[in-house]
Amino acid sequence: MRKFKKDNGAELELYNKDCIKGMAGLREKSVDVIVTSPPYNLGIVYTKYNDKVHRLDYMRWMTRWAKAAMRVLKDDGSLFLNVGSKPSDLEVPYLLIAVMRKAGFEMQNVIHWVKSIAINKVEVGNYPGITKDIVVGHYKPINSNRFLNDCHEYIFHLTKDRNVKLDRLAVGVPYQDKSNVGRWHNADRDVHCRGNTWFIPYDTINSSKDRPHPATFPIELTRRCIRLHGLERAKVVMDPFLGIGSSAVACAELGTSFIGFEIDKVYFDQACERVKGFDISNCTKEE
Ligand SMILES: C[S@@+](CC[C@H](N)C(=O)[O-])C[C@H]1O[C@@H](n2cnc3c(N)ncnc32)[C@H](O)[C@@H]1O
Repeated sequence: MRKFKKDNGAELELYNKDCIKGMAGLREKSVDVIVTSPPYNLGIVYTKYNDKVHRLDYMRWMTRWAKAAMRVLKDDGSLFLNVGSKPSDLEVPYLLIAVMRKAGFEMQNVIHWVKSIAINKVEVGNYPGITKDIVVGHYKPINSNRFLNDCHEYIFHLTKDRNVKLDRLAVGVPYQDKSNVGRWHNADRDVHCRGNTWFIPYDTINSSKDRPHPATFPIELTRRCIRLHGLERAKVVMDPFLGIGSSAVACAELGTSFIGFEIDKVYFDQACERVKGFDISNCTKEE
């Protein structure tokens, strides 16, 4: 285990360990928020983990970690489960809904993480700031005459009873038409709920060596999930599938304590480096 302390209060514990074994060592109901992206069993080439096992074995294993997550999550906690698919195998996210329900979770919200979007000027009409067709964001293009490029993934917001209060305005957006400020119930400031389509692009990379892991999510994805749950109430955040530590970096920045597990030593070391390299790293004490 490597532990990092930041001067903003964040304590980060990173374990090079199987997450089911790791979670067994945590206290029951000790985690406020889980933000994670498990392997999707789509044949992604990781350096250690085999991402193409029999579907039934995958579902059994997913049920085991989901039950472990259920045990450590507080009753008013949130689990944000990021999951995607590929055009030739679109079912994984839908199968995982059944798995999560079997473990006791309820679906409180479905968020669509939009990686890329095209907006045609003609469809938005006379809209301030939009003067021409726009295409923003990145996706992996596929060569097919049957399937569409895959420009989104899901973030399933799972809770124990679908009754967890959220801080919607913490991730809200300003009113386009300022005359709406004060008009609607609760609209006493220039911000309203963003809704469930979140455009979060990947950073632009120039070469494959800038991609040290095949399946990361942007740091902003974790940041937004934590803020939506409520930063004040997110005292302990966990990512059982740490990868190269995108969720850990978000917590280091937000000042939230964090626990992460990763079985692959190569990715684990990179996660530690990223947390260490965060720009308040001169205050980092490694134990
Ligand atoms: C989709 S990636 C997560 C990437 C991460 N969100 C990021 O941005 O870096 C899933 C990760 O889970 C790891 N993994 C697979 N099985 C695991 C297990 N039993 N315990 C902990 N980590 C595991 C894989 O090595 C892989 O790095």
